[in-house]
Amino acid sequence: MIGLGTMGAGIAEVLAAAGRTVIGVDADQAALDRGRTIVETSTGRALERDKITADQRTALTERISYHTDFAAVADAEVVIEAVSENLELKRSIFTRLGEVARPETLLATNTSSLPITDIAVASGRADRVVGVHFFNPAPVQRLVEVVKTVLTAPSAQTQALELVNDLGKTPILCGDRAGFVVNALLVPYLNRAARLYQDGCATAAQIDEAMVAAGNPMGPLALIDLVGLDVTVSALDRMYSETRDRRHAPVALLAALVSAGRLGRKTGQGILLQAEPRPAPLIDRSAELPDALLLPYLNDVCRMVEIGYATPEVIDTGMSLGCRMPRPFDVLADLGPAAVLAGQQQIFAATAEPGDRPALLLERLAAAPDPAAALTELRAMA
Ligand code: 3HC
Repeated sequence: MIGLGTMGAGIAEVLAAAGRTVIGVDADQAALDRGRTIVETSTGRALERDKITADQRTALTERISYHTDFAAVADAEVVIEAVSENLELKRSIFTRLGEVARPETLLATNTSSLPITDIAVASGRADRVVGVHFFNPAPVQRLVEVVKTVLTAPSAQTQALELVNDLGKTPILCGDRAGFVVNALLVPYLNRAARLYQDGCATAAQIDEAMVAAGNPMGPLALIDLVGLDVTVSALDRMYSETRDRRHAPVALLAALVSAGRLGRKTGQGILLQAEPRPAPLIDRSAELPDALLLPYLNDVCRMVEIGYATPEVIDTGMSLGCRMPRPFDVLADLGPAAVLAGQQQIFAATAEPGDRPALLLERLAAAPDPAAALTELRAMA
């Protein structure tokens, strides 16, 4: 495991919990100590919640060793990199891995926002490189996105899928596109929530409570603080650079908080945890919730299916196991395609954002003689 920050330490814990010997590598002793503390805190919580016994916790932590020397991974079967989202740093690590790792070693990156192909080619053996994208907190979320590039060998893809299954997680296979499946749907939703808050349309509590009432385990603003504002902004930047959809440009408030070093839980201050209380909204638009956030998200879900990037089943698995959100196609079925379309048409009329245009697939479903039956048929597609 290269990089023992929030995600790297979480992945190390998952590997060790599944009985693997984990060689943890980070830049210096301070980084290794932080990684060890993250594992201790998380396994302590797992113990408190009766997820593991004290003996299992001891065995798990003893399976992880800590090193500052890259050569420690020379004999590893799999190397997973989870350093910060910096392309040059990741490329230099993959160049080193190309030199020190065995030729048959599976090389994986946990990047959520950088093109995996660009990282893979730096290794000189891009056929052995995949993305394995874990979700925060890694020990809790059951999903891992396995990302193949145009250069990934089928054997490397199979090995990655098997690894994820062995870890007790569920993989979904994705192409190397901005956001993969889950973030491509999640981060635009988070950005939209941040915009409502920034523009004073509703209070933070109103936004988060409305989305919790809609069945999510936490509100979008709390989730931004959990995943990190830097990670959220990087993921949005990558989406924006690929889609040129203005809705994907990180809102000014998020960008400013990142510049200020307020990155969320990991730094103690973030979007919810701000020093100054915000003034009450001038025009309270909280009555538009949860539709203002939910309907564009469902519309994006339909568009992702429409373009053939993912099936309804893959999207449902992704959002429910990656983020513990309700399965989007259950929500669409509950609300009914016609009601979702009508609401989305209103949103599009108000925003005039091309990205808010109702998806053709949503229009087709709503226009079907029996929309519920059309939706069931769509969900059965392989
Ligand atoms: N180890 C093992 N299990 C743990 C644990 C740990 N350290 N911490 C919590 N758990 C378990 C609990 O036992 C509980 O299990 P159960 O459902 O089987 O009873 C479950 O996790 C939930 O715990 P709680 O209900 O007690 O809630 P918490 O407040 O502790 O944690 C949460 C809440 C797990 C963070 C939950 O709110 C959640 O899932 N939120 C959504 C998080 C999310 O969306 N993550 C993905 C973000 S996107 C991402 O990471 C990708 C990146 O690229 C941006």
